[in-house]
Amino acid sequence: MTTTTEDQPLRTIPLPIAPVNASPVPHLTSIHSVVERGPYGCSRYRGNCGGYLIRDLLGYFRPERVLDPMTGSGTCRDVCRELKIECTSFDLKQGQEAGDPASYAGAGRFDFVWLHPPYWRMIRYNDDPRCLSAAPTLDDFLKQLRDVLRCSRDVLSPGGVIAVLIGGFSDYDGRRRRYIPLPALTHQVAAELDLWPVCTEIIRLQHGNTSARRTYRGSFIPGLHDVCMVFGRNP
Ligand SMILES: C[S@@+](CC[C@H](N)C(=O)[O-])C[C@H]1O[C@@H](n2cnc3c(N)ncnc32)[C@H](O)[C@@H]1O
Repeated sequence: MTTTTEDQPLRTIPLPIAPVNASPVPHLTSIHSVVERGPYGCSRYRGNCGGYLIRDLLGYFRPERVLDPMTGSGTCRDVCRELKIECTSFDLKQGQEAGDPASYAGAGRFDFVWLHPPYWRMIRYNDDPRCLSAAPTLDDFLKQLRDVLRCSRDVLSPGGVIAVLIGGFSDYDGRRRRYIPLPALTHQVAAELDLWPVCTEIIRLQHGNTSARRTYRGSFIPGLHDVCMVFGRNP
């Protein structure tokens, strides 16, 4: 059972029963649905995710050195601090760019990279043209995402993995509305870099989204999840 830091049971919805296996984190399956966000990062930081998925992934992959180059309010950094795992974290807001190899000079190798990029322009983080949320076109966004993934791949230790959390969204460019399937596109970009999934995708149910409290006039199928994909070098 998943528990908080105070060993309180977390609120989860019933899920299909998973097969018993030797996983060190048996409750970690292809669906992650924890209502609480935990004492990690800052819930007021737009687009922030809770810390329990990261905590479960770190429990499963057992890294010694973690990198979080798009740290935002520092959720991954805070989980690492609790678990006493060394973590290097930075963000464009502090001037370091995740897609520039120079940002990693002297940083060494990492067993686990946590990437939680902007979901393209769903939330605008700042006007710096290097920010993935400021990419003028989808192609530009995917090119920048490729640069970030390449840099992450190049600092992986042997057997290291990159976990990417991203979600699709419905985009309107003033002319047409279309759905942007960012998890599927991320798989394509990763494959071009010879990065291959090391396990199932994890569907993370988004509890407490800002948009859940709004009323919309139009008709659409609401998305209630994003997707975590874990990649390693193609064996
Ligand atoms: C979805 S938020 C991450 C939220 C984070 N997981 C947290 O705990 O708050 C995406 C972050 O990526 C950062 N970012 C965007 N483009 C970047 C780039 N090229 N290099 C580094 N950080 C970037 C943004 O500033 C933003 O903080």
